[in-house]
Amino acid sequence: METIKEGSRRILCPDASALADRAVELIQACATQAVHDRGQFVFALAGGSTPEATYRRLAMPKNSSAIDWLNTFLFFGDERFVPADDPRSNFAMVQRTLLTPLPIREEHVFPVPTDRATAADAAKAYADQLVRFFANDIRHSPPRFDLVLLGIGDDGHTASLFPGTPALDVVDAWVTWSAPGRLPPPVERVTLTFPVLNAARNVLFLVSGESKADAVYDVLEGNVACRERPAAGVRPKDGVLTWLLDASAASRLTGSV
Ligand code: 6PG
Repeated sequence: METIKEGSRRILCPDASALADRAVELIQACATQAVHDRGQFVFALAGGSTPEATYRRLAMPKNSSAIDWLNTFLFFGDERFVPADDPRSNFAMVQRTLLTPLPIREEHVFPVPTDRATAADAAKAYADQLVRFFANDIRHSPPRFDLVLLGIGDDGHTASLFPGTPALDVVDAWVTWSAPGRLPPPVERVTLTFPVLNAARNVLFLVSGESKADAVYDVLEGNVACRERPAAGVRPKDGVLTWLLDASAASRLTGSV
């Protein structure tokens, strides 16, 4: 079921498996449109556990064949400040679930450089990477991803923008760092900032499970402030915002989803 409410599209799926299938379709559609319009698909991946099922499906030949990987460029919406081979690393998760089986060239994948001395250094280096990739376009305005994939934490965080943290207020940088959030893993983070998330052509939230129902309600119907539920701060200016929810995550929503 699909509805539009207050500028954001909501798609309800019966369960996590159906959500992953639908997510693949949405990603494929974004990729096709981006390559048609601009000759490339620039995609910021989400971390955490929810996207794993989507990435595994996307890597299957029957699905991956629909994407022009030669003109696809993968970035990360956020990263834990741990080594790239640490099991807590989002890059390690994406490598395991998506990259290994794919015909994508290494130079088309841009992990956050977590080998830097500090999370702040890694954030600066990643911002420099964005400037190099997006070239002159972004000296005065944020880089425009074709698709940013996001999740939401039980506390309403998204990417690594945690409630009540200074990262929420960063508007003069495209990447920043954050102290560990309340939710595991308790490590420093590197994250894209709101200006970048809200410059995207498409933002897709993947949300599954009862544990997210309160945060989803607060953001979509509870009008809770961004400071308390940072996912509420994701409002793409000229982009399409899609909330892909399974029935459990949407269980507290009162309006027609
Ligand atoms: C991370 C993610 C984070 C994630 C949410 C939801 O690094 O953990 O980027 O923002 O999307 O915490 O995580 P789950 O999908 O594991 O519930």
